[in-house]
Amino acid sequence: MPFTIAIDGPAASGKGTIARSLARHFGFHHLDTGLLYRAIGAMGGDPVAAARSLTPADLARDDLRTAEAGQAASRVAAIPEVRALLVDFQRGFARQDPGAVLDGRDIGTVICPDAQLKLYVTACDEVRAQRRAAELGVDAGDLLAELRERDARDAARSASPMRPADDALIFDTSDMTIDEAVALAVARAREAG
Ligand code: C5P
Repeated sequence: MPFTIAIDGPAASGKGTIARSLARHFGFHHLDTGLLYRAIGAMGGDPVAAARSLTPADLARDDLRTAEAGQAASRVAAIPEVRALLVDFQRGFARQDPGAVLDGRDIGTVICPDAQLKLYVTACDEVRAQRRAAELGVDAGDLLAELRERDARDAARSASPMRPADDALIFDTSDMTIDEAVALAVARAREAG
C-alpha cells in the first residue's frame, strides 16, 4: 500500500516547503492542492464549470501565487460543488506508489483520512506574513490582514473547513528554521513508516 503524508495548515505556515522537502527526501509524489483552487479562481466565470474543465495546463499559469489569486481561491474553495469535483483526482494522486505527500486544508480530515502521517503545520500570524512577504517581495504589514482574512474564511466555511484532524501532529514552526521543521517532519515520517 502506498504511503500517504497529509499536510494541512493555514496560509504561509511552511507546509508547502515541508511537503516538497518530504517528497524529495522519500522519492514520493507531491501535490500542492491549493493550486487547484487557485487555478479555478483565476479562470474566472462560473467556478463549478471551471472545476469541471480543469486541466494540468491550468495549474501551470504563472499568476497563481499572488495574494489576489489566494483570495479568489479561498472564495471558490467555499463552494461545496467545487470541492466535490476535486476529490477523486486528489485521492487518485494519493494512491501512487511508492507514496505521496499532499498539502492543503482538508487533506487529513476529508481527502486522505487514512494517511499514515498527518501534520498540521502552523506558525504565528506575524511570522507567516513575514515569510510570505519575503517570498513575494512585498510588505509584510499588507499581507498580515490578507492572511488573516483568508484563514478566517477557510476555517469558518461549512464545506471541509480548515482544521487539524484528530490524529494530526501539530507542528508550530514559529520558532523553527525551515531546515529544522523539515528535519523534524522527516523524523516523524520515519517513525510512522
Ligand atoms: O495553500 P494555498 O494558500 O495555495 O491555498 C489557497 C486557498 O485554497 C486556501 O486559502 C483555501 O481556501 C483553498 N484550499 C482549500 N483546500 C485545500 C487547499 C487549498 O480550501 N486542500
